[in-house]
Amino acid sequence: MTTDRQYTWLITGCSRGIGLDLTKRLLESSENFIIAAVRNPEKATALQALTLSGKGTLIVIKLDVDNADAIIRSVEEVKAILGDRGLDYLINNAAVNQEIDKPFTMKIDGWTNVFRTNVVAPALMAQVYLPLVERSTKKTIVNVSSSLASFGVAHDERWASYSVTKAALDMLTHKQHKERPDLMIICLNPGWVKTDMGTQDAFLTLDESVPGIVQTLTSLRPEDNGRLVDYRHEILPW
Ligand SMILES: NC(=O)c1ccc[n+]([C@@H]2O[C@H](COP(=O)([O-])OP(=O)(O)OC[C@H]3O[C@@H](n4cnc5c(N)ncnc54)[C@H](OP(=O)(O)O)[C@@H]3O)[C@@H](O)[C@H]2O)c1
Repeated sequence: MTTDRQYTWLITGCSRGIGLDLTKRLLESSENFIIAAVRNPEKATALQALTLSGKGTLIVIKLDVDNADAIIRSVEEVKAILGDRGLDYLINNAAVNQEIDKPFTMKIDGWTNVFRTNVVAPALMAQVYLPLVERSTKKTIVNVSSSLASFGVAHDERWASYSVTKAALDMLTHKQHKERPDLMIICLNPGWVKTDMGTQDAFLTLDESVPGIVQTLTSLRPEDNGRLVDYRHEILPW
């Protein structure tokens, strides 16, 4: 059921991990109308099961963010779903990584694909969804980044190719904020979370990260704008 008070969300990469759990948590509130994008809706059984539960509204759409034409085409589908409403939150969550690689041995060919998913796709998403974001109340774009992107957070030489893409995503966010300071545009660090990408070695469970993400995203402050913000609502250094 939809009401006038609902905030609208478009989240990429909702088949599993943080995207799936974020969708589940947002659905706990009737205030949220969520468009969850996945590249294989027929295989996203855990996500599809959520359509039967929760107080909010969930619509699942197909979107492979590696396909630029599909991103562009998706706007018409999302417009039709939203009607005369704008898009309050665009969450660029989908991402990939190579194995835990190091700079002098990482696979250079495969890196191009990682860069396309982690940087080029969020850039295009923001461009084509800008009119819908502008039409909304919250006007928020969230690029899901990582503390691995930060020069100010200590880390070692591993995850090299992935870390570089997330640092590029942070700079994209900075540039987007400089061009459109009237919008709310942030990078989000979810913490190191136990997912397929984060592995079971991660410090945090989804239960420890995602409620904080929801709390943070729904209470963003002017000082967060253009910054790297984490799941505890702390601003991290670049
Ligand atoms: N987990 C962590 O510790 C951690 C830490 C810092 C940042 N992050 C960031 O948090 C976000 C979510 O990570 P996660 O841990 O949930 O990862 P994950 O468990 O590996 O899930 C990745 C999600 O992205 C989707 N995806 C990948 N490529 C896609 C594409 N081309 N089109 C559409 N969807 C695509 C996957 O869909 P399929 O099922 O179709 O593959 C999946 O739903 C990412 O941006 C990641 O970089 C994670």
